[in-house]
Order: sequence, then C-alpha cells, then structure tokens
Amino acid sequence: MKAIAVRPGTPNSVHLAELSKPSVSDIPGGRGVLVRVLKVGVDATDREINDALYGNAPAGYDFLVIGHECFGIVEQVGSAVRKVKPGDYVTCTVRRPGGSVYDRIGRSDITSEEVYYERGINLRHGFLTEYFVDDEEFIVRMPKGLKHLHVLAEPMSCAAKAVEQAFLAQKRLQVWEPKRAWVTGAGQIGLLSTLILRLRGIEVFTLARGRKPNLKAEIAEGFGSHYLSTAEHSLAEIAEKYGKPDLIIEATGSSAVAFEAMQVLGHNGCMVWTSITGGQKKVEVPGDNINLNWVLGNKLLVGSVNANFRHFESGIADLALGEVTWPGVIQKILTTPVQGLDNYREMMRLLVEDREALKVYVEVAEG
Ligand code: BGC
Ligand code: ZN
Repeated sequence: MKAIAVRPGTPNSVHLAELSKPSVSDIPGGRGVLVRVLKVGVDATDREINDALYGNAPAGYDFLVIGHECFGIVEQVGSAVRKVKPGDYVTCTVRRPGGSVYDRIGRSDITSEEVYYERGINLRHGFLTEYFVDDEEFIVRMPKGLKHLHVLAEPMSCAAKAVEQAFLAQKRLQVWEPKRAWVTGAGQIGLLSTLILRLRGIEVFTLARGRKPNLKAEIAEGFGSHYLSTAEHSLAEIAEKYGKPDLIIEATGSSAVAFEAMQVLGHNGCMVWTSITGGQKKVEVPGDNINLNWVLGNKLLVGSVNANFRHFESGIADLALGEVTWPGVIQKILTTPVQGLDNYREMMRLLVEDREALKVYVEVAEG
C-alpha cells in the first residue's frame, strides 16, 4: 500500500512510502475497524512536520506517514464492533492514549504527560494511505448527508473543543452570557469557530489580514459574522469602535497576534489559544499593562489542543446545523483538491505556496 510520509528530523523529506495493508485482527478483542481512505485533509501541521519542526516516527520505523484529517468508508469490522458497519462513512480521532489519569478516562486530548501520541503527527502513522485500521473507540460515524464536507470533521472537532472549553471554564463566573466574540484568524479553525459561535446566536467579528473582497470574508459573512481586515484596522481600533469582546478564539498561527489580542479582551472575558506555533519567534509585550488589566478584569486564558470523540460528535452535529442554516457556505472552505497519493509533491507545494488555498485535501479514492 502506498503512503505519503516524511523522515522526521530531515527538512522537506516528503516521499511515497510502502506500508503493508492492515487487517481488523491487528486490533485485539474483535474491536478492529478497517477503513478504506477516501479523502485526507492537510494543514499547517503537515507543512511544519515536513519542515522538521516537530513530529516523530512510530517505534520501529524511520518514517512517519502524515495526514490526520481523514474521511473514509468502513470496509470490514471485527466481531465485537457495534457502532459502525461496512459501508458507513467515518472519520477518526487523532490522539491515542498515554498513561495519565486523563488518558485512562478517554480524555487523551488533555493528557498530563509530556509525550503525546497523534496519528499522522507524533509516534503514530497517519491516514495518507489507502487503508487504516483502528479500535472502534476512535472511529466516528459521519452521516451520508455530510459526505460533501468530508475532511472538515477533524478541524471542526478542534473548533468545537475550543468553544466548549471557554463555556466550561467560564462557569467560574456563575453567570456568563457572551454577547460579542472575536475570532482572530480566518483559516479553517477560525472559520469553523465563527460558524459554531454564530449558531449560538453570538455577534461575531472574524478578523484576518486579507482585505475584502476575498473568500474568507465571503464565508465568514455567509455565517452572518462581521469580517474585518487587520491590514486596515488595528485590534485596538476595532475594540474602540465596536466594543471589547467577551470571548476571543485565537487561530492566526501568530504568537504576536495572540499577545496583542490579550490587550483588548473585555472584563470577565475568556480567550482561547488554538494555534500550534512551531517556530522560535519572540514578541515584546506591554507586560505591566496586560498584567494589571487581567487582574482588574478577572480575565482568563485557556489553551486548547486536539479533541476527543465527543467533540467530533458535537462538531459533526454543528456541521449539519450549519448546513441547514446557511446552505452551501461551509463547503466553500474546501478549495483545493489534489488527485491521488502520487501527487504528494503537488500537495506540499500547494500547502506551502498557494496563498489562495484555504483547504488542501487529497482525493485518495472514489467512493
Ligand atoms: C491537529 C490536532 C493536533 C494538533 C497538535 C493539529 O493540526 O488538528 O489534532 O492535536 O495539531 O499536534
Ligand atoms: Zn490539524
């Protein structure tokens, strides 16, 4: 079986590797689900793994198969599997448990261990191949009616967790009724977070560099959000003009913006950081001012990574609700298909160079 892989530690090592086809019996207890891969999305994480900024091969391999956003069809199931059957469309969670108490209760997304296991990212092979097998615990069914949104299930799960974390954390206030939210960044996580917040009836400002008109603005406005270009207005100006936000979901991939946004959050506000910033950039911040205002304003900063099974389910439910609320808008995120695993170089080129590509994904097979 073909697979798209990198040699961790070696920059720009993306290549085609060979894997043997897995089987349901690879998973003990009859719990195996064999999935034929149809489509796999790629994102900045895959690019940064290919830049050798992070990522490790599984034990016994000198390569790592990449791709963590999968969509496929169940081909065969073990005798104990009840949740899915052959012919079902599915996606799959990314993290696999380590040994902490959180891992043991199905919350590997909040593992307290330094080492984490992620399919396609760290110490476990990913989905950019023809078939994969996994325990039914990690397989998430996708309704046929959402087939056209395929690889968005995984990024949607990360957005779902980020928003959920804010609401859970804000229980500290006894009452929290956010009226105005900012989403900084209009990549897939920013746009999908915009969607989730709009579905909850919150006024949303989606802030990104690009000037209007552009596709990101069209999608954000399609969800009823206000899109503003940060090339035209600073965050401070936007706060001055429209009021400070109660919630900020930060998804720019820029630590400079993450810290800048700390300066405009409203009293009792919550800010969620979602970006994996792989570089070594340093930023200078007005430390006294931030410290003072965060204390006087009882503000909260939450980091949110990955997602578990429940976030996939709630994300998929919100994709369905979003689709009936603003028909046809979500799929505009899926801009840039690449045909087949053989085109791995083109896939990486588009990820690195194509500024217009909002979402690059590989069409692995028909189905
Ligand atoms: C993935 C997450 C993962 C994170 C950190 C993101 O690109 O979507 O599932 O936890 O990277 O590796
Ligand atoms: Zn990702």
